[in-house]
Amino acid sequence: MSHRKPRRSASKLLASQKLRDLTGRQHIVLAGRAAAGIWSLLRILGFQDRWVLIPANTCYIVLWAVLHSGSKPFLVDIDPQTGNITPDTLAAALPYQPAAIIPCHMYGLSAPIADLYAWARDHAVFVIEDATLAVGGQADGQPAGSWGDASIFSFGQGKLVDNDIGGAVLTDDQRLAAEVERLFAGLPTWDNHLADLTDQWNQIYWALHQYEAENPRILELYPPLFEMFRDLICYRLPDASWLGLPEALQNLTANLQHRARMAALYDRMLPDIPAQTLDRPAGSVLWRYPLRVPVEHRNGLLRHLWQNNLTEVTRWYPSLRYMRAALAPHLPPQDTPHADRLDVSIINLPVHVKRAAILRTINAVRRYFA
Ligand SMILES: Cc1ncc(COP(=O)(O)O)c(C=O)c1O
Repeated sequence: MSHRKPRRSASKLLASQKLRDLTGRQHIVLAGRAAAGIWSLLRILGFQDRWVLIPANTCYIVLWAVLHSGSKPFLVDIDPQTGNITPDTLAAALPYQPAAIIPCHMYGLSAPIADLYAWARDHAVFVIEDATLAVGGQADGQPAGSWGDASIFSFGQGKLVDNDIGGAVLTDDQRLAAEVERLFAGLPTWDNHLADLTDQWNQIYWALHQYEAENPRILELYPPLFEMFRDLICYRLPDASWLGLPEALQNLTANLQHRARMAALYDRMLPDIPAQTLDRPAGSVLWRYPLRVPVEHRNGLLRHLWQNNLTEVTRWYPSLRYMRAALAPHLPPQDTPHADRLDVSIINLPVHVKRAAILRTINAVRRYFA
């Protein structure tokens, strides 16, 4: 039996079948990226000018996709213990009669998705489950990606299933899936120009987001940057981009087991530092290991780790309140104190790297607090 890689179009079919097996979803539409999925769903559903609820600490690209679709983003605060939104934190949005909600399993930690879905059902709100960070996980006893009217996965660089680029829309609604396919067919195809733009934007955002809270004039840059880089929200991929995805999905179980073992190492070897991780409900997976550090130590610890060449340590995700205020100044501000607090206290330790690198990270964290 040979182990040749599958051909281009066969890779797409194989990957889609694996995603169907993983989630039980009937329809899988592979996407240029998950954000394109959000944009397409909101367009198809005709939610222009309607409110769409997103976690206040989700990825900025979700905010961009909502704005690009013509909907109004509403930031929902989080539970500080879990980093995720809950039906309680959603209550503030009810008077706005939202059209859709995009709950996310932040960091791979399962959100209370059954309760969120029930809330949405009660209020006739469409659910797009953001499972970009939870591929292969379980939430409330079901696979992440199987909840909601539709869900999204991401296979971008640094994600659990890292295909360097790509995403998927998952749904059981055949007509919706066909509409998403139709919309995707009209998108520009990924090319060198988009790759260049992506590199530029990643570097710019990495630099800017760190200072946006302390220097409000940085926020003046976001509207022109959004115009300059909005083409990055929606594109489709050539078939060749999917060649590695079946294998990455094949390795998912081992990949998640490694991450869980590395997280257990952090749990075991960092018990006595003045920092805590977030709650990890049953079925959670770990994209990165989230650590809440006292605000006065956060930046010092990060600097210390980076100076020790531990550059895989990051500070995701920033509160979206600054960027939203800059890009949609006409929308009323929302109070999201817990997301704002997590923004200034979170660091993420890597779990995808080898055990030796985890031990180096642990030693460096311990040295900092010693
Ligand atoms: C929480 C979250 N949601 C959605 C996305 C969008 O994924 P993609 O980059 O594939 O568009 C990302 C990643 O960028 C993310 O981190």
